[in-house]
Amino acid sequence: MAIQTITKMGIIGTGVMGAGIAQIAAQADIDVFLFDAREGGAQAAKDSLTKTLNKLVEKGKITEAAAKQSIDHLIVTSKIEELAPCDMVVEAIVENLDVKRGLVQQLEEILRPEAIIASNTSSLSVSAIAAGTKNPERVAGFHFFNPVPLMKVVEVIPGIKTDPAICDLLQDLAVKMGHTGVRAKDTPGFIVNHAGRAYGTEALKILGEGVATIGDIDRVLREGAGFRMGPFELLDLTALDVSHPAMESIYNQFYQEPRYRPHPLTRQMLVAGLLGRKVNEGFYRYDKGTMLNPAQPQPVPSVSNIPAVWLGVECDEDRKVLTDLVSKLGGTVETSTQPSANAICLLAPWGEDATTASIRYNVDPERTVCIDLLCNIEKHRTLMLTPITKTEIRDAAHALFAKDEVSVTVIHDSNGFIVQRILAGIVNLACDIAQQQIASVKDIDLAVRLGLGYPNGPLAWGDILGAKRILTILERINAATGDPRYRPSPWLRRRALLGIPVCHEETTINH
Ligand code: NAI
Repeated sequence: MAIQTITKMGIIGTGVMGAGIAQIAAQADIDVFLFDAREGGAQAAKDSLTKTLNKLVEKGKITEAAAKQSIDHLIVTSKIEELAPCDMVVEAIVENLDVKRGLVQQLEEILRPEAIIASNTSSLSVSAIAAGTKNPERVAGFHFFNPVPLMKVVEVIPGIKTDPAICDLLQDLAVKMGHTGVRAKDTPGFIVNHAGRAYGTEALKILGEGVATIGDIDRVLREGAGFRMGPFELLDLTALDVSHPAMESIYNQFYQEPRYRPHPLTRQMLVAGLLGRKVNEGFYRYDKGTMLNPAQPQPVPSVSNIPAVWLGVECDEDRKVLTDLVSKLGGTVETSTQPSANAICLLAPWGEDATTASIRYNVDPERTVCIDLLCNIEKHRTLMLTPITKTEIRDAAHALFAKDEVSVTVIHDSNGFIVQRILAGIVNLACDIAQQQIASVKDIDLAVRLGLGYPNGPLAWGDILGAKRILTILERINAATGDPRYRPSPWLRRRALLGIPVCHEETTINH
């Protein structure tokens, strides 16, 4: 008889992830059988979960009775055979294909034939883990995020031979455990770790090109694009011994797809032991969890005479935004077709560098400053220079745009500033995940919001920013750099050409 509900769950590997999964299962009234190869490991996990649940009582988050009930659901075992009564086992052991395969085959001998075997793997193929079992139909991926009780999303991943009914059951189970289950195809990185590639790797590329400093890139993306953490702050938190191998692994599993290309800097830092917060040194330095050298905003120059501003924009909407802003800041906007000899030539290009834009608008590159309108300019303003922008023009533009205390970051020339490069990359990658049918539009957006904490799902973000605009940015960066990393996904191109939302699913075909 197929399993209908899970009342007894085994957890093998009671480290960080296994213990977290055990906690939410016990809190969902499931009997949890804990097993770890390390002697005393399962008992240690129960002891630590007891402390965690009692702390939740102290904080008033759960009742004493609820904590006691959850603790009573935690059953410590010392032999794997004691998991025989389980309806399902989740393995969260070491991330090694051979070891996981061996465990799954061992479980087949112990569990009853219909019991489900789930893997919390984050980087291995579910189909590969199931290969060699007598009954691969009952093996699925059930991929949680750290810390499990707080990260309310779990990816449900069928291997090539997995029974779809098992995935439906796992999605219901996720809900029972207080999480949202999203369905992902068995592909490298599934949804969340795949979609997350665009942020860190592009930030490293921007840093590597000398466009801006670590602190400036982090600030621009926090303040100007709404990310909770800058990419380098995030890399320091996750630690390079975890994130660099993950970057290399996804890149290689997709056969050197340029969109996922890692950067040599993180390998160098990894080898040098600059792993991040856990060793007190990474992109920043730390002491007892406090950052010692947080980046300070760039000082605002004092300029007594700010020249008039001539605008070079892509559309009327952008002209209005910039005219209103410059006027609000007390500046003067020139309306002539050509800038006067003393003007600041303020350009707002999409996907172009300041040099190319100054030539396209036929203005003096020494007097050119560009502004990124994909940034939330109410919260942050990024100004970009050509290699020869005069320092007095740089300072005048900085002083003007900082007049209302909004922070301003000046950067070197870059095809697509910082925010345009990062956001276009994130939207494009999500479009490609949709194009590859790895997950539905809804699940991609849900998984990324819940799993990465981005302010918007990446496809919905594409619609907020505008599909056409994102396409223009990518096409121009792609043309200027010749780097296929920036080639637009067909999903994005078709929707931009048709003038329909990025979130629009394909018309279905009857078979
Ligand atoms: P961990 O090192 O904290 O815990 C692993 C536990 O498994 C240890 O207690 C170890 O003694 C035990 N173990 C190792 N081999 C075993 C075996 N053959 N049989 C029984 N127990 C065994 O590791 P963590 O971080 O909890 O990761 C576990 C799994 O979860 C890995 O597959 C990892 O890729 C995946 N994962 C990890 C995430 C993270 O952020 N740490 C996020 C999502 C998935």
